[in-house]
Amino acid sequence: MQGSKFVFFGGKGGVGKTTVSSAYGLKCAQVGQRTLVVSTDPAHSTSDVFDQQFDDEPRAVEGHENLFAMELDPEEEVERHMMEIKQRMGEQVSPAIVNELDRQIELAHQTPGAYEAALFDRFIQVMRESDEFDRVVFDTSPTGGTLRLLSLPEFLDDWIERLIDKRSKSIDLFEKAAIGEKSARRKLESDPIIAHLKQRKEKFEFAGTTLREDADFYLVLNPDELSIRETDRAVASLREFGLEVDGLVLNRITPAPDDDEQGRGARYLRDRVATERERIAAIRDSFGIPLVGMIETRVEEVKGELLTDVATELDMDISTEAPA
Ligand SMILES: Nc1ncnc2c1ncn2[C@@H]1O[C@H](COP(=O)(O)OP(=O)(O)OP(=O)(O)O)[C@@H](O)[C@H]1O
Ligand SMILES: [Mg+2]
Repeated sequence: MQGSKFVFFGGKGGVGKTTVSSAYGLKCAQVGQRTLVVSTDPAHSTSDVFDQQFDDEPRAVEGHENLFAMELDPEEEVERHMMEIKQRMGEQVSPAIVNELDRQIELAHQTPGAYEAALFDRFIQVMRESDEFDRVVFDTSPTGGTLRLLSLPEFLDDWIERLIDKRSKSIDLFEKAAIGEKSARRKLESDPIIAHLKQRKEKFEFAGTTLREDADFYLVLNPDELSIRETDRAVASLREFGLEVDGLVLNRITPAPDDDEQGRGARYLRDRVATERERIAAIRDSFGIPLVGMIETRVEEVKGELLTDVATELDMDISTEAPA
């Protein structure tokens, strides 16, 4: 399998998504691919990993050729999304109800899905504006919804189609009712709501095609029962939405002690390693998804030189599509 341009890493909180995304990005950059790592981590871990402050525009990562990073702040994205909608809706309604409308829009943005919706819009934008990159790596947020959201474009597409249809019919009715009253007449083609819906439809079409044809999805997990169960559920739920996981990355594997070590610590490690081996075998058997990375637990946080080291433990195909 050839590696796709867009690569997504998902998984539960703290399993190592940011670490693995950064290591993978570095690996791609090292072979000369212009690579962008996009993080959505509210804790700004990408900045920690590279010891450099990033913001919502791609910035060159110091000390690593071909590597770029950006950090999206989900809260800020929700805020920006909200302002945009307020402004657009505000242009459509009378000044008298603008305040009430604003309140409604604010309420809508406090619902759980708003966070993902805003982020997803931004993901699409990043994908669209990524011509200068060979590879874009998304470090998704731990909320289960983010990856699943990627399966939405087709569904949204249909939905928008229906909205456009409804709107067209209502304009049609309105025009018929308003015959003779020229000033009240609205033309279908110039309707701003239809124009906006069409624009969104086009955006989701792009996202749907891109995700289907040029994206890979990986889940990061740890070798413990809880993490394995959660991953099993994630795989099933993604599959339900038509999204196949391309590979699993197992992080925080316990290193084995040397054979001549006999102390209590060594015995503990040996037991732990044996248990994890069983779990790894079970993962290989039951998931039917390739294990594309096995990363050992390090004593220290993964950054700097350690990151380069971890990158070598990722066994993924990073070749981009061969030129035709
Ligand atoms: N193999 C490893 N060995 C040692 N430390 C690790 C390893 N993998 C990750 N860590 C450390 O564990 C912490 C959590 O890792 P990371 O930030 O990559 O997880 P995450 O899944 O992105 O978390 P979040 O869900 O909060 O975004 C970090 O401090 C990281 O340096
Ligand atoms: Mg993270």
